[in-house]
Amino acid sequence: MGKILATGGTGYIGSHTVIELIKKGYEVEILDNLFNSKIEVLDKIEKITGVKPKFHEVDMLDAENVEKVFAEGNFDTVIHFAGLKAVGESVEKPLEYYKTNIDGTLNILNSMKNNGVKKIIFSSSATIYGDPGQPQCVETLETGRELTNPYGKTKYMIEEILKDAAFADKELSVTLLRYFNPVGNHESGLIGEDPNGIPNNLMPIIMKVYKKEIPELSVFGDDYDTRDGSCIRDYIHVVDLANGHILAMEKMQPGVSIYNLGTGNGTTVFEMIKAFENASGEKLPYKIAPRRAGDLPVLTANAEKAEKELGWRATHTVEDAMRDTINFLRNA
Ligand SMILES: NC(=O)c1ccc[n+]([C@@H]2O[C@H](COP(=O)([O-])OP(=O)(O)OC[C@H]3O[C@@H](n4cnc5c(N)ncnc54)[C@H](O)[C@@H]3O)[C@@H](O)[C@H]2O)c1
Repeated sequence: MGKILATGGTGYIGSHTVIELIKKGYEVEILDNLFNSKIEVLDKIEKITGVKPKFHEVDMLDAENVEKVFAEGNFDTVIHFAGLKAVGESVEKPLEYYKTNIDGTLNILNSMKNNGVKKIIFSSSATIYGDPGQPQCVETLETGRELTNPYGKTKYMIEEILKDAAFADKELSVTLLRYFNPVGNHESGLIGEDPNGIPNNLMPIIMKVYKKEIPELSVFGDDYDTRDGSCIRDYIHVVDLANGHILAMEKMQPGVSIYNLGTGNGTTVFEMIKAFENASGEKLPYKIAPRRAGDLPVLTANAEKAEKELGWRATHTVEDAMRDTINFLRNA
């Protein structure tokens, strides 16, 4: 079994994937500049798995140090989580987003090339479907149309860069994993999503309202054509997501493979609030706010391809995610 480099491996999805990889006996090293994660995550990973992964505090924009990590690492596969991910912020700071996400990825790809690393899994997003014109997204849909923010555009552009790289190098294996809405955390409650700054995804905001760091939750629109008027999304437990990476990695082959990682089911914002209240036993203050520009009423995954080809399926429910989130909040 070859060694794996997880860029962004101290982050939310990266750390959960590192844990599942270690549990399966893989050797993993992490490259992260700790821009949006904390060094203590390494101790938590050790507590959960008994192994503290080797850590490189490196900015992926620093090509020289990235190259050093690769030159010493003898990696078989890169799982590339690192990047900036706040949709709203990307509208305010487009150049930072393009620089970090695109240049950072190019540095990783160059060092892979220089050091003969032939496999990369990329953290893509359902965002790249833009407005798919249908509630369920299937991998064969056209991507990149009507993208409303620079973050989503970087994900689309990186997918295209990786496709071109695989076309040019027939030995390269590229797997694009399009995540839907990751939620929850490891059942130990030791690690979870803990963003620096103000988040703009539903779960991290709910968590901040619970911690009274934000007075109330805004529900953006209660008059959509959905079962309760609020938007529907496909919430996928992060441990299921983590396991999707492992199954995808074990099936990698030269060329490009693309998989949606979602449950195939949708949950409304009001249902998420209710599920959180049931798990916490407390009311969550919220208000109805105007619709946000660019929000689609429904966006869920068609996850049949991952099930058929990888044998992957989400096994955790939204209720599991809420229980684990409460556990993390009470532990932290
Ligand atoms: N969480 C989501 O809702 C979601 C959905 C779809 C896709 N994704 C993608 O999945 C990946 C992981 O997301 P996450 O939720 O774990 O985010 P995260 O912010 O928790 O993790 C990203 C990690 O990358 C690191 N990083 C940022 N810039 C870096 C740089 N220049 N050099 C080295 N490291 C750097 C951060 O410090 C952080 O640890 C991201 O690429 C994100 O865009 C996330």
